[in-house]
Amino acid sequence: MCGIVGYIGSKEAYPVLIKGLHRLEYRGYDSSGVAMISDEGKLNIYKAKGKVAALEHFAESKDRSGTVGIAHTRWATHGEPNDTNAHPHASQSGDLAIVHNGTIENYTVVKKALEQHGYAFRSETDTEVVVQLIDYIRTDTGCTLFEAVREACHQIVGAYAIAVIDRRNPNQIVVARKSSPLVIGVGDGEYFIASDATPIVEYTNRVVYLNDDEIAVINRGESLHVFNMDNKESKVNIQKLRMSISELEKGGYPHFMLKEIFEQPRTLRDCIRGRVSADGKHVVLSGVLDNKERFLDAHRILIVACGTSWHAALIGKHLFEDMCRIPVEVEYASEFRYRNPVVSDKDVLIAMSQSGETADTLAALELAKEQGAFVFGICNVIGSSIPRATDSGCYIHVGPEIGVASTKAFTGQVTVLAMMALMLGRMKGTIADEAFERVTRDLHRLPELLQEVLELDTRVKDLSKIFTYAKNFLYLGRGYNYPAALEGALKLKEISYIHAEGCPAAEMKHGTIALIDDDMPTVVIAPRDKIYDKTVSNIQQIKARNGRIIALVTRGDEVAAKIADYVIEIPEVCECLSPILTSVPLQLLAYYVAVNKGRNVDQPRNLAKSVTVE
Ligand code: AGP
Ligand code: GLU
Repeated sequence: MCGIVGYIGSKEAYPVLIKGLHRLEYRGYDSSGVAMISDEGKLNIYKAKGKVAALEHFAESKDRSGTVGIAHTRWATHGEPNDTNAHPHASQSGDLAIVHNGTIENYTVVKKALEQHGYAFRSETDTEVVVQLIDYIRTDTGCTLFEAVREACHQIVGAYAIAVIDRRNPNQIVVARKSSPLVIGVGDGEYFIASDATPIVEYTNRVVYLNDDEIAVINRGESLHVFNMDNKESKVNIQKLRMSISELEKGGYPHFMLKEIFEQPRTLRDCIRGRVSADGKHVVLSGVLDNKERFLDAHRILIVACGTSWHAALIGKHLFEDMCRIPVEVEYASEFRYRNPVVSDKDVLIAMSQSGETADTLAALELAKEQGAFVFGICNVIGSSIPRATDSGCYIHVGPEIGVASTKAFTGQVTVLAMMALMLGRMKGTIADEAFERVTRDLHRLPELLQEVLELDTRVKDLSKIFTYAKNFLYLGRGYNYPAALEGALKLKEISYIHAEGCPAAEMKHGTIALIDDDMPTVVIAPRDKIYDKTVSNIQQIKARNGRIIALVTRGDEVAAKIADYVIEIPEVCECLSPILTSVPLQLLAYYVAVNKGRNVDQPRNLAKSVTVE
């Protein structure tokens, strides 16, 4: 999903901007552009459809001078991906340039009003309306750029992170945000702006996360000033970034996705660290502890999420109902936000989101908050919008997830949900000490168990060669592993572009079984759990119809393993944590099939790492 980069200081802006755009490529985009103010006061804007490399090629022979500039990777919402609709957009006067992440809901109304004042538009975007509006306000009132941006923000409706420069004042960038993220990097006599910290971290670890309805005036060589939309100056809260540049590099792996799959033993260790006591007798999540009453009084837990996070949420439902006896409803955020749901102050709503920026999830939590629910975020990106909009929360601490296909974030989310369920179950007295300590013991073992699963890498890579040209895939699981089947299917389809469907194993008999033949490979997740025998009979039903079966079984299995065509053995673990182990071979299977098919594994077509528009 789109990205913004900006720079003002003593360096040449262009190299910083381009490198920043490359750092944001993982978010997914369709075009890009840069705008710099040259030392002679000329506003130079270069933009191109396609990859950042196309922009670099276009700008190669152009004047790229200037120590202040803004840049953008676009994920189109209004107007097709092309050079004209790419950002930055210039004002009619030729003085201003803007980059924007988000959508302006009332842009047609504003556009009509500006056309009546003689403005002609070159692009089909909603963004161009904003820069022309700022230009009109400045020209009409003679006010400053800051005042014009602030007034424009009062007039537009929607989601935005914007950065604006004016060639008449090359010592200033004005930025503002509402719903879309924006981070300001505070360097030594220089400032950086970006949609997240990845373009900033190599220059400075001092950052300011702009809040909703805030506007910042960034003057070269001066201190930063942040205001709310009523022109009241806010305190500038400089935070220290914990991300290192090495975390952003591939670390020798061919793709970020493979690096992140192999990081999982370490990331789960980081996720658990300080939260599960060494003796396994206590689990402490401060966000839960600080809001104990809200959780204990809750009549229901709602979990809103999208994609992989929604799959993790389904496992959360099972965990909470199993250990805490609290009713749980899991909802697609995009459905929840528009169906006029019944929410009360006796509800706890959990917003699950790796990026913390998913527009539907953010909107769903805002709706629940308005109706009195206690809103709790489970996110990965520190300082992102969802953690800042919730009453409290818990970070999964798995580090930056760059690959568009979520892997380590999924296992981190399930781990946090398991710790939450243990803690709430202990608080409510609904889980016996023996059961509690069996799970905490396995939580501590998870990194080593995952390491054992990752040793299956070569086996899965070989297996992937057999299925590279499959046209369809079926993934089956039961109980805790039904969501793991859904997640396995999503992983395969989103990076290999092979159609894949996840389904509860028993549900297969109600229609899906008609698809089974020797061209339809079926992955069946069949660990030794309390419904193992039922899953084995599902495997037999598939076998009877010549289906080809890949069975994920517990090490030493002698039943399912004898029926299936291909077997992947995983170590024994308590049932509620099994999806953490079973999901990893499926991540590897998807990865290798996609590589065999020559896909762009880290940036699959049409996808974005963070869907910050509806
Ligand atoms: C998962 O591999 C996809 N990248 C996608 O489904 C993702 O999980 C979804 O967009 C939700 O993102 P979030 O967790 O950042 O909110
Ligand atoms: N809505 C704007 C456009 O379509 C910005 C999209 C984005 O966030 O990249 O150009």
